[in-house]
Amino acid sequence: MESRVMLTTLYKMKEKGEKIVVLTAYDYPFAKIADESGVHIILVGDSLGMVVQGESSTLPVTMDQMIYHTRIVSRAAKIAMIIGDMPFMSYQASIKQAVVNAGRFLKEAGAGAVKLEGGAAVSETIKAISDAGIPVQAHIGLTPQSVHKMGGYKVQRDEEQLMSDALAVQSAGAFSVVLEGIPSDISKKITKALTIPTIGIGAGPHCDGQVLVLHDLLGLNQGHVPKFVKQYAAIGDTAGTAIKQYANDVQTGKFPAKKHCY
Ligand code: KIV
Repeated sequence: MESRVMLTTLYKMKEKGEKIVVLTAYDYPFAKIADESGVHIILVGDSLGMVVQGESSTLPVTMDQMIYHTRIVSRAAKIAMIIGDMPFMSYQASIKQAVVNAGRFLKEAGAGAVKLEGGAAVSETIKAISDAGIPVQAHIGLTPQSVHKMGGYKVQRDEEQLMSDALAVQSAGAFSVVLEGIPSDISKKITKALTIPTIGIGAGPHCDGQVLVLHDLLGLNQGHVPKFVKQYAAIGDTAGTAIKQYANDVQTGKFPAKKHCY
C-alpha cells in the first residue's frame, strides 16, 4: 500500500520537478475517488460556500461547517494529504484564536495541515500556527476572502508585492503557497525564488503544482466558467439527463419494473 503524502513528499517532488496534483473535495464519495485517482493533496476549500452551499462568496462559511466537511473527507482519503481551509474570520481577529482554530482541523477533523489567505500581513499568524506544530499552506494573489477589498475577483499584477508576500510566508514557516490569479511570468519568478512548493490556480504552468475546484473540473457548476478552468467532464448535464429520465419513467409507469420489485 502507498503511504500517506507528507511534507517531505512534497519537498522531494519540488526538488525533482514532479508536479503536485491538488484538488478540492467536500464529501466522502468524491474524496474517495480523488484519493484513488492519484491526487496528492485534497483541499477542503472554503469554496464549498459557493459550490456546495450556493452562496455568492466564501465569506459566510463557518469553522463548524469546515470541520464537518474536513472530517468527512479525512475519513475517505487514505493517501492524499488533507488540508483544511481556514474560513473568513477564523484567523484574522487574533493570533491566539487562529492557533486554536487551526488546531481544531487536526484534532477534530483529521487534517494534516491548514491553509489561510494572505501574505506578509498574516506572517505572524502563520509563524504562530506553524510553531504549534501545525503545517500551514499560505495563499496569495487573488484571495477570495478579501473580495470586497480587492473590488472583485481580479487578477493580481503587482509583482513587487506578490514576491514580497511569497518570501514573507516562506520565512514565516509556510510549507507551501497557493498562487491564485497571477500572471504566468510572475508565478514563474516566485516559484524559482522559493524553496517551498507553489500551487497555482489561474497562475500558469510554471508552478510546482496545480489546484482546481472539483465542481469546476467536473462541469457541475452552472453559470460563469473562469478562463483558468479546464472542464474534464459534463457531470451536471449527465445528472440532469438521468434525473429527467427517472422522472419520465415514474410518470409513465416504466419505473419500477418487475426486476426492481420484491
Ligand atoms: O477554497 C478553495 O477551494 C481554494 C482553492 C481554490 C485554492 O482556496
